[in-house]
Parts: sequence; structure tokens; C-alpha cells
Amino acid sequence: MNRLDGKVAIVTGGASGIGRATALLFAEAGAQVVVADIDGAGAEETAKQIVASGAAAVAVQGDVSAEEDCRRIVRTAVDTYGGLHVLFNNAGIIRRTTVLDLDADEWDRVMAVNVRSVFLMCKHAVPLMTEGGSIVNTGSGWGLKGGGNAISYCASKAAVVNMTRALAIDHAKAGIRVNSVNPGDTNTPMLRDEARQLNEDWAAFEADAADRPMGRSGSPEEIAQAVLFLASDAASYVTGSALVVDGGGLA
Ligand code: NAI
Repeated sequence: MNRLDGKVAIVTGGASGIGRATALLFAEAGAQVVVADIDGAGAEETAKQIVASGAAAVAVQGDVSAEEDCRRIVRTAVDTYGGLHVLFNNAGIIRRTTVLDLDADEWDRVMAVNVRSVFLMCKHAVPLMTEGGSIVNTGSGWGLKGGGNAISYCASKAAVVNMTRALAIDHAKAGIRVNSVNPGDTNTPMLRDEARQLNEDWAAFEADAADRPMGRSGSPEEIAQAVLFLASDAASYVTGSALVVDGGGLA
């Protein structure tokens, strides 16, 4: 049941990390994939990998905080593959600061890329989705429990988790499910960037056990498996949920 045969899926932030791993897994599960990212070359690279494996994918360069780009990403799915069944809103950024060191502009950018994007992508995608459609939004363990030195990020991810619940209620009768996946520390370029922002040595940062009962961070592929479950008909009675994938970090 964890299959997406015949389905068309959009993955935002598909050039890197969790987005790339999920785009590859969606394709392996039978989907035709629209790989969207502000990093056009990275999106092309992911799409190329998918096509080389014998599946179908197209890359779109776009900024998901901009409405015109969101409209274009959604249209690409319909124009290229004739419909849209799965939307993975995954693009995101982080600023590792307390309130003392955060400019208002930086606050706005984090909220635009992490929250406004989910609103805009859903605004343009939902009208095209029919019964069986599935939206997965990327929250974070820190959207549920909070975290240090990341005030804008924590606020943005809490918004994603609750916007997901609101969307789920609004579109349940139309047969469109909306869930959030909430990763803990996952070994991607973003995690390395966090170490840089905090001026911490990567090895020490990666070895920090505070949030990691299993003694390690997650892999992008482990998050992708949870996204595939939520996206597929295997999760047909799951909507409005916040699925935590963090190796016990929230426990
Ligand atoms: P990443 O940095 O490897 O990938 C993020 C992708 O989003 C990049 O390809 C980037 O170019 C793209 N992106 C950034 N701004 C964009 C914009 N305005 N428009 C379109 N694309 C844009 O990061 P990672 O770790 O794969 O993160 C994916 C999601 O998972 C994010 O929403 C992040 O907040 C979330 N997450 C990550 C965790 C981690 O430990 N890595 C933990 C919890 C949540």
C-alpha cells in the first residue's frame, strides 16, 4: 500500500536533504515527480537522478515564498503529467539565534519560506486535487516542543503543525488528507549549516546526545519513508496528524 503508482507528486525543497531523498523514494514508489527548489541546478540534479532510474521527473526553479512561483510549480504538474495527487511542502530555512540577535527582516524571511509557502502552495494545489489527494507539510520536533536559539524557526514550525490541522479539517470531506511530518535532527546540509551558524565544530555538534536517545541523528531516507506512508493510501484514515520521526527525541 506504500505505493504512489500513477500519481503525480510535487516535492518542494527537492534539491537537497529530506526533499531529495523523498523525491527519489516517491519515484521508486511509482510517482511522477515535480522537483521544485530555489536552487534550480540542484532540482535538475534530483530530476536527472530520477529519470536515470527509469522513472519520470521534471525540475522547476522557484521560490516558494513567492505566489507567482507557487502557481507555476503547481501548473507544471498539471501541464506535464495531467494532474496532481501529492504535495510535499518541505522547503525550509533556519536561523539559529535568540530574540536578541534576530532582525525583523530575518524573522519575516523565515516566516515567508517556512509558513507563507505552505499557505501559497496549498492555495494553488488544493483546487486541483480530488478525492485521495494527500498533502504532507514538514514541521519539526521544535514546532511541537520548542528549542533553544531558534525563535523564528520554532514559531514557524508550530504554525505549520497547526495550519496542517486546520487544512485537514477543511478538506476532509473532499477526501484530501493533510498531515505534518516532524523530524528530529536529520543529517542534511541544513544541520551542518546550523553548526556553522552556532560556530560549533560539526563533529561535536553531530555527537551531541541531548536530543538523541538512539545516539545518532536521522537520515533523510528515514524521514522520506514516513512521508511516503503519509502520502500513500496506506495512510487513508490519517489526517491532521503530526507524525514525529526523531529517534525518541521528543520522549
Ligand atoms: P536542506 O537545507 O538540505 O534542504 C532544504 C531545501 O529547501 C534546499 O534545497 C533549499 O534550496 C530549499 N529552499 C530553501 N528556501 C527555499 C525557497 N524559498 N523556495 C524553494 N526552495 C527553497 O534542509 P533539510 O534538512 O532537508 O530540510 C528540509 C525540511 O525539513 C525543512 O523544512 C526543515 O526545516 C525541516 N527539518 C529539518 C531538520 C533537520 O535536522 N535537517 C529537522 C526538522 C525539520
